[in-house]
Amino acid sequence: MDNLDKNIPVEELIQSAMQARRKAHAPYSGYYVGAAVLTMDNRIYTGCNIENASFGATVCAERTAIFKAVSEGRGKCRALAVTGSPKGEEITQYAFPCGVCRQVISEFAPEPEKFVVIVARSKDDYKLFSLEELLPASFGQDQIVH
Ligand code: THU
Repeated sequence: MDNLDKNIPVEELIQSAMQARRKAHAPYSGYYVGAAVLTMDNRIYTGCNIENASFGATVCAERTAIFKAVSEGRGKCRALAVTGSPKGEEITQYAFPCGVCRQVISEFAPEPEKFVVIVARSKDDYKLFSLEELLPASFGQDQIVH
């Protein structure tokens, strides 16, 4: 937590995530999620959750955002904001990234102790965590010996 990257545009990331949340395709759960990821070169990519009638094909907002960044050639990230709540403008809770999303974030977070995860209800109501805190002792590229 003390090692957290200090120069993160927290407010801009939250606002971007909140905008993205409006695009959620969540007719089955009614749970709307938005995410915004900050790449190493300080670009922001956003994503929403995209559900499917075949439920297992659903993709979370965080992964949508990260896959957009990676597919545009920006595969290293510094921070991610997430905001989620049942459908409607009011965000009533802090929505934490699920386990699968934490694992996917870690694949593209070269510095997990510095990587900032912002869990937000509004631009002035949020919590900050390092990725290391949310996914300690993680499995990663280092474990795979070629
Ligand atoms: N969801 C996300 O978008 N991100 C998470 O980290 C947790 C869950 C979505 C998936 C599904 O569309 C809805 O929230 C309910 O699980």
